[in-house]
Amino acid sequence: MDLFIVRGGSPLRGRVSVSGSKNASLPIMAASIMVDGEVTLEGVPHLADVTTLSQVLQTLGMKVSRRPSPGTDSQSAVEILIDDETRCVASYELVRRMRASICVLGPLLAKRGRAVVSLPGGCNIGDRPIDLHLRGLAALGAELRLERGYVIGVAKRLRGADIDLAGPRGSTVTGTANLLMAATLAKGRTVLRHASCEPEVVDLARFLCAAGAKIDGAGTATLEITGVEGLEPVRHHIISDRIEAATLMMAAVITGGDVLLDNVITEHLGSVFEALQAAGANTERITEGSDPPRQEIRIGPGSPLRPFDVAANPYPGFPTDLQAQWTALMTRAVGRCRVRDDVFPDRFLHVPELARLGANVSRSGSCAVIHGGLPLRGANLMASDLRASAALVLAALAAEGESVIRRIYHLDRGYERLDAKLAALGADLERRTDDSEITVLPPLPAA
Ligand code: EPZ
Repeated sequence: MDLFIVRGGSPLRGRVSVSGSKNASLPIMAASIMVDGEVTLEGVPHLADVTTLSQVLQTLGMKVSRRPSPGTDSQSAVEILIDDETRCVASYELVRRMRASICVLGPLLAKRGRAVVSLPGGCNIGDRPIDLHLRGLAALGAELRLERGYVIGVAKRLRGADIDLAGPRGSTVTGTANLLMAATLAKGRTVLRHASCEPEVVDLARFLCAAGAKIDGAGTATLEITGVEGLEPVRHHIISDRIEAATLMMAAVITGGDVLLDNVITEHLGSVFEALQAAGANTERITEGSDPPRQEIRIGPGSPLRPFDVAANPYPGFPTDLQAQWTALMTRAVGRCRVRDDVFPDRFLHVPELARLGANVSRSGSCAVIHGGLPLRGANLMASDLRASAALVLAALAAEGESVIRRIYHLDRGYERLDAKLAALGADLERRTDDSEITVLPPLPAA
């Protein structure tokens, strides 16, 4: 297992490019199960989660490969092709590594009429049921049962239905993806109400339409799908990762740096820009790209950081995938601040780790309460989940002295070469193989 050694205090400066979106890539890769012919995806980031899903797809009889594609974001393209449609089991060993593997369920039922998919494992960010996925697939005519930790489903031909995706905390992103995919091959018309509006779902809809699907309402809470007989070969460019972009922006701000980010889709980051500007950061749009629409932005020194409360909500609200990073940033703003998460009310494992750096931060129900402005000093830290890891890296970059962050495999699931990107901006950060000798000790009292 790897760890990071971070020596804080260096303001980040320079230019960095944002990679393709993890949460757009995963459902779109799963959708390839439904396509008769080759799927070519450009801009898919090199991530552990992408590798895991590629392995899941291979066990499901798909050929998955990467070939060089100079000039694209990831300099490579992922090519996926059906090889053997008789294989329909997504095993626990793979699915437990990544919850998004559940996105193969809808495509398998729609295209092959049968699926055996392990229930996704638990997760450190809280309860993650799939009842909305299953209820929607049953409404489309799938016969589903749960047995020995697997979802077992059969369906002669899915048929259109009117489905409500409202859950206790808003819609479901991968649930919307699963049902959107299944409905594209269902007979007749499907309406998905209270659907997720996340940009990653919109990108999936763009991909499906490019393959011949008939979808209206992408980006709104009501999707209308008219089933088609089949999907054709398609080439698609994955949108850039808004969560990585915002994480890099917060890294620039927390270190008092001045950074140029390119391949940013600013329209996906409205709530984040509002929060950053309210907190005193200076954001500036430099250039406009066209296809796909993207911008280069500068995030630089503004006024002294001010506390700004955020509440994580479904898009276009402030993303839950950024609340840990925002909490880290607010430890640098003098004053009291609350960060609430209405999507995952238990997503606060980063809080005690930030306190180890000397931050005055505590959890109160579904909130983190921060009294910012105290000096942060390097410490031994433990990553617990993908976005909490990013929060610890941000805080360590702003801390005085050396921090050691263990279990960095969490970070590698969802950030492409984050250590290299930060180091190229001047961060004093190195990746090492875990070794118990590597530790941070406090100044020892005089004998
Ligand atoms: C997606 O997870 C993202 N993952 C998550 O990003 C993100 O945090 C989340 O959406 C919310 O935006 C991917 O896209 C691969 P949900 P997902 O279903 O789809 C409840 C990251 O860091 N719910 O939208 O699993 C659920 O408990 C990851 O990149 C039900 O009640 O999340 C939660 O409170 C972490 N029943 C809320 O809905 C269901 O059937 C939102 O969950 C499904 C969900």
